Amino acid sequence: MSPLRSLMPALSSKSYFNYGGQGPLPTPSLEAIRASWDIIQELGPFTNSVWPYISNEITSTRQTLAKLCGVSPQRLALTENVTSGCVLPLLGLPFQPGDRLLISDCEHPGVMSACKQLAHRHQLHIDILTVHNLREGTISQEHTKFDLLNELEQQLRSNTRLVVLSHILWNTGQLMPITAVAARLKEHPSQPYLLVDAAQSFGQIPLEDSAAVADIYAFTGHKWACGPEGLGGVAISERVLSESKPALIGWRSLQHEESHNLRQPNLFHKDSRRFEIATSCVPLLAGLRCSIELLEKESPIKKRIETIRNLSSNLWETLENKDGIRCILKDTPPAGLVSFTTKSKFSPKELVKKLGKEKIWVRDLENPLSLRACVHITTKKEEIPILCEAISLATSFEK
Ligand SMILES: Cc1ncc(COP(=O)(O)O)c(C=O)c1O
Repeated sequence: MSPLRSLMPALSSKSYFNYGGQGPLPTPSLEAIRASWDIIQELGPFTNSVWPYISNEITSTRQTLAKLCGVSPQRLALTENVTSGCVLPLLGLPFQPGDRLLISDCEHPGVMSACKQLAHRHQLHIDILTVHNLREGTISQEHTKFDLLNELEQQLRSNTRLVVLSHILWNTGQLMPITAVAARLKEHPSQPYLLVDAAQSFGQIPLEDSAAVADIYAFTGHKWACGPEGLGGVAISERVLSESKPALIGWRSLQHEESHNLRQPNLFHKDSRRFEIATSCVPLLAGLRCSIELLEKESPIKKRIETIRNLSSNLWETLENKDGIRCILKDTPPAGLVSFTTKSKFSPKELVKKLGKEKIWVRDLENPLSLRACVHITTKKEEIPILCEAISLATSFEK
């Protein structure tokens, strides 16, 4: 058994396939959080003794996350989740009435609705980048890139100012060619900003190349990196740092918090800290760093995605060989998310409940109406036939 798996109590008595929803927290990460909390209480939570400790925690976490994103620490803001990592810098971008936002049709509801509200408030237009139909798997990545760039060409207008696209689509599991999209946008006369939702890629695939070329590359620690919920980050381009003005502001955004008063203009940090807001949970920082170290020790990132792909290919093939089950992707998946439909008389929601009674955990999706099972390096090979058999059994009761 994977040594890391044995450190995750959440995996001990169930078959868990919801890594794309939330990764299990290893016990050493929980202990690191607890130890950090103890240190803060022992030093005194609001004392001169504690500030150097907190400052160190923040600096070392910022450095760790920046390194994983292939950017300087000045370009990395700490956030509490993916959504705020996308939305805080987004709200600060300099849009003019009439500008156009091009948003993929597979974005998460939070980011999508923030874009809609932004468009409503600033008289912007929204165009849709259709990506739900990109269903080729690993073997045809070039094909996917070709089709996506083609679609981008069709949808870009002279005044498109922002493109929003996830790195890995949370519903179909497809991997998007972010570097190729960024290169294309650079050539466009209006130089649209590129916002990438990296909820499903951070901790799962190498991301330096994509994170470094996106304008806003937002992620969370609580999914594939198996960190605690409540802590994430966003890599921000030099261009966004110089052209944007924070819209949601707090004391952490300011260069001189202590001496700030109403007669002064707001002086924000010149670096990514301008998008940080206020008090957040410091002990979580130690927890996320610990999870990242444990994952790296178990399997460095390049090897990690290979292991994940082997497992997801195995799951994809086993599901495809069952009567009444069809995977959403036409070929083995590029990452660990495997979505599929069944001919079961039960809806996906009902199937989730039924499987849960057998301690098998997957999730349902509304669009496309399907089930999603995720595999990570901590997935046991033997869990795959258990899942497929259980789904097959439920599916054999056809309408
Ligand atoms: C692609 C994507 N974006 C955003 C989110 C929301 O994440 P968070 O709650 O960390 O903002 C999720 C969560 O499942 C997701 O899959």
